[in-house]
Amino acid sequence: MKRIRLMLALLVVTLGCCLPAQVPPVDPHRDAFVSDLLGRMTVEERIGQLNLLSVGFDVTGPQLSKDADTKVRRGWVGGVFNTFTPVAVRKLQMLAVKESRLGIPLLFGYDVVHGHKTIFPMPLGLSCTWNLDAIERSARIAAVEASADGLHWTFSPMVDIARDPRWGRIAEGAGEDPYLGALIARAMVRGYQGSDLARSNALMACVKHFALYGAAEAGRDYNTVDMSRRQMYEYFLPPYRAALEAGVGSVMSSFNEIDGVPATANRWLLTDLLRTQWDFQGFVVTDYTAINEMSEHGMGDLRKDAELALKAGVDMDMVGEAYLKHLPELAAHGDISESQINQACRRILEAKYNLGLYADPYRGCSEERARSEILTPKNRKAAREIAAQSFVLLKNDRQILPLKKSGIIALVGPLVADQQNLLGSWRAAGDWQQAVSVQAGISNVVGAAVTVLYAKGANLVDDPALRETLQGFGAEIPVDRRSPREMVAEAVAAATRADVVVAVLGESSAMSGEAASRSEIGLPQCQKELLQALVETGKPLVLVLMNGRPLTLTWEAEHCDAILETWFGGTEAGNAVADVLFGDCNPSGKLTATFPRTVGQIPIYYNHKNTGRPYKGDPKFKYVSRYLDMPNDPLYAFGYGLSYTTFSYGDVKLSQTALVGDETLVASVALTNAGMRAGEETVQLYLSQPVASVTRSVEDLRGFQKVRLQPGETKEVTFRITPEDLKFYNSKLDYDWEPGEFVIRIGRSSSQVKSATVHWSQKEVMLQAR
Ligand code: BGC
Repeated sequence: MKRIRLMLALLVVTLGCCLPAQVPPVDPHRDAFVSDLLGRMTVEERIGQLNLLSVGFDVTGPQLSKDADTKVRRGWVGGVFNTFTPVAVRKLQMLAVKESRLGIPLLFGYDVVHGHKTIFPMPLGLSCTWNLDAIERSARIAAVEASADGLHWTFSPMVDIARDPRWGRIAEGAGEDPYLGALIARAMVRGYQGSDLARSNALMACVKHFALYGAAEAGRDYNTVDMSRRQMYEYFLPPYRAALEAGVGSVMSSFNEIDGVPATANRWLLTDLLRTQWDFQGFVVTDYTAINEMSEHGMGDLRKDAELALKAGVDMDMVGEAYLKHLPELAAHGDISESQINQACRRILEAKYNLGLYADPYRGCSEERARSEILTPKNRKAAREIAAQSFVLLKNDRQILPLKKSGIIALVGPLVADQQNLLGSWRAAGDWQQAVSVQAGISNVVGAAVTVLYAKGANLVDDPALRETLQGFGAEIPVDRRSPREMVAEAVAAATRADVVVAVLGESSAMSGEAASRSEIGLPQCQKELLQALVETGKPLVLVLMNGRPLTLTWEAEHCDAILETWFGGTEAGNAVADVLFGDCNPSGKLTATFPRTVGQIPIYYNHKNTGRPYKGDPKFKYVSRYLDMPNDPLYAFGYGLSYTTFSYGDVKLSQTALVGDETLVASVALTNAGMRAGEETVQLYLSQPVASVTRSVEDLRGFQKVRLQPGETKEVTFRITPEDLKFYNSKLDYDWEPGEFVIRIGRSSSQVKSATVHWSQKEVMLQAR
């Protein structure tokens, strides 16, 4: 290690360099440094750099590796994940630096997905803020905390577009829209990596799961994906690409297949698209044992799969050790070339250089920093504010919310006092004992001004088989042994004595996330029965939901007076829920994933096609695209969300209705706060093109603005639209726009818009016409 540091210092002095900016594509100093190092490594050591081991306690698959220490000493490990804290990281890093032949530092990774120790709302919730600054800030705080705890690398952002809420991992992404998803991907990469990866508080990001993982058939995790190239380019790939454009340092290949070839062996995906078309300069890591799983996919034995993966463009092998076992032999037989190994190894060594690890293998990791920068009051305050912004008010009849800070409230439900589930399925290093329950939050916000009658009312899940499965997967579902009838009776008694009932119901955190698909996505039966009993009391009823996916809430929407969706809100969830319930914060979240009426409508998403036989609302017509037993539209559409105030929209005003070539269209609406409270509205811009060379979506999100207005205040909200916003992928996969008619829609959600039409022609056509 000393030699490496000396060399680096010499390079810095002789070439006058400073440490690199964020993932520089070409850096002569780095290239010289890495070439020299590579030249001194044996083939075995180079292959060692491609090996990523899980060393620690947090695993999401089988743990295969033994004797990690010995492997580190031999130079057979390039990085580890699931190890953190300054003490643990220092110890393991010292082994690599002091006891391996070349002293190459290890890369320390972890799933820091929505916060490290200060946990922010789960990603789908974060996306409902539509607040890119807040999302970036959450990632920045996560990076500061994680780097103080010794980490260099996070397996985030997860940017998989998902249109199927049965898929539990919908919780981890930004929902169904590629435009919003791309902006969020960028914001998160910026937040994690900062302006310079070498800074001690930067975390290298890893965009995942490349690609299309969110399109698993039937919403079943790890299931097959099959889709047209146009569909990929138009709707599913933009967020990955956006992360790349923001300079993401690494990419994780996904578990699914694409065009019949697993992503991890897919040369078209990992080389032609990622490297040749998109010019990605960082490295590709597999998902957990994804190379090993290729034999189950039907790609042959492990030796073959290792060969396929390397040739496809996979640089680093997560956990499975297929590379470690088989690359030496494959190289010896000439089945892979030494330059293929070198290329992968170079990318890992470069990432370490970019992170400044050769200069300081213990960068950023100090107990002092950990003590002063993790879970600080400031970080918690940010988590509280951001959580409140992520909540979506789905219903609020007769303005039952916000609640008065007086009187008697019956606080009912299995999630009222819960501190564990509210951290979500990727709590990672989050400590549930630091989390604020709804019960505690209410007491923090209203103190003794309100009398709170608490009753659990139901267990989270009563179905013994499901409960056993969830608990087997590490979920904490404390079970109340009283009979359901007894628990409901207690809740009803509390409700009868109260002025208002607040029921905090939902899923356990283990019911969403990885390997947590559901075929029914309603509230668990025992909670539904509790809710029915509460409805029968006739008391005003507020339903506060905690869950990791859109739920089917048709009955609840009919019978509850108010519904507040709070997802899994993180460490400060309870305080944030109380802030919103009692009106200290006015909710402003808007859905980023459609809430279906029933599971039978899935997949359901706002940017669907029109079909040749669209249903136009007249049930007398038989041969149209509709269900006999259910409307086509969802219960709650993409972009939907209420506020305690009301916003009224004026008509869409346009700068002109006929445009040519590169002109800019200015479209605006007057937005008025017509209610009694200050509030924030997310004004959304959708475009549609009714006629084109390929069929287009009925509408596509192309812009939004968050606007804060005082009661009675009006503001003109303006969007500037250029041909860039009109572009789409045609059947040749060219990204371009076509002249014609465009409908400009501006409104409060994808299904509540005002519209106006323009004609946009290409310059040549106009000139010819003149
Ligand atoms: C998940 C990834 C995660 C990895 C490491 C896998 O099972 O699919 O999202 O980053 O485990 O924990």
